[in-house]
Amino acid sequence: MGRIRVLMVLGTRPQFIKSAPLIQQLLSRRKRISLNLVHSGQHYDPEMSHVFFSQLELPRPALNLNVGSGTQVCQTATIMLRLERFLKESKPDVVIVPGDTNTTLAAAVAAAKAGYRVAHLEAGLRSGDMSMPEEINRRLTDHCSTLLFAPTRTALKNLANEELSKNAWLTGDTMVDAMRTAIPKAKEIEETLLESMQLEVPYVLVTLHRPSNVDDPTRLREIVRSLQAAGELRLIFPIHPRTRERLLALGVNITRNRSRVCYIPPQGYIETLALLKNATCLLTDSGGMQKEAYLLRTPCITLRSTTEWPETLRKQANCLINDPRMIPTAIARAGSLDIRHEPFSNPFGNGTAAQKVTKILEDEVTPRNI
Ligand code: UD1
Repeated sequence: MGRIRVLMVLGTRPQFIKSAPLIQQLLSRRKRISLNLVHSGQHYDPEMSHVFFSQLELPRPALNLNVGSGTQVCQTATIMLRLERFLKESKPDVVIVPGDTNTTLAAAVAAAKAGYRVAHLEAGLRSGDMSMPEEINRRLTDHCSTLLFAPTRTALKNLANEELSKNAWLTGDTMVDAMRTAIPKAKEIEETLLESMQLEVPYVLVTLHRPSNVDDPTRLREIVRSLQAAGELRLIFPIHPRTRERLLALGVNITRNRSRVCYIPPQGYIETLALLKNATCLLTDSGGMQKEAYLLRTPCITLRSTTEWPETLRKQANCLINDPRMIPTAIARAGSLDIRHEPFSNPFGNGTAAQKVTKILEDEVTPRNI
């Protein structure tokens, strides 16, 4: 029997992280599996892409679709068109699509329509908020996939509710696998990193990039005002390119300085974990960081009205606030919360998700003769 030809399509920062453990597993099974990576080019700045390839030791993609930035529709359609050509040439046995970005949806639809099997890594998440591009992406991706890898029991239940159980497996979350490798590295650099930023504990880590928070100037202005007013603690804010553009448009001074809110460039994976681990609390709208905070036991405030990771709401480890004016109170509350020594359950798996996914692929996918 020939090798299983696996194609993985990825293109954004969170996809690099959650795919890394699976890529390493698939590469370790060279005798049975051949792996090709395609980078959509959705994230293209060195600090949004290259740094993750080097920190996570990812192989060079076989192809970069260079989609760049654009509207939701433009990005999705362009990836589909450009990927179609590569699918015809490479004829994979299965196409793996991680996460819930435009890259995920575009690759899933293009592959399914061209007659290829689609495997969705991180299937079954639901926030219930269809105004989020990610919610559209994940629902549609699940429905055109034939292998669904659910990270949690809740995700598996969500798939059952949509009659998708037949193709679903509970595998755990590959982000737990990724963190296991990265945490010792984060511990190694944390002291030097904090020193280089002249950052002393306690501080609050802030990351915001969702269109719902940063694209509306009135809301963004309110957020900036609330950050300035949030008590005595310093706030360290690595700014995503989308947020950077919007802050500059508002005339906010984002040059790195010693003021209370300290804006810094986007950070690598290891640096982000080090900053998160040492933070008094996190204020975020990222999905992945809510979970990383939970696992590191850093109290989290999520500036959204919904979450696709309801497990993180346990033990008050994460709280949802939608009104930016609540930020100062939420930070004061989270800052006084000590959850580091609480007995916590870990609903995200035990760090063997990538192994489980690989085993399922080997069992379920038969190589086609071409
Ligand atoms: C995307 C994902 C989101 C994920 C996030 C992580 C979708 C719908 N959203 O959002 O789920 O949480 O990635 O970062 O796929 N830009 C640059 N350099 C880059 C990339 C982007 O300057 O390397 C700027 C561009 O101005 C672009 C903007 O950031 O217009 C937004 O980028 P985009 O790819 O549209 O989505 P994200 O906001 O990053």
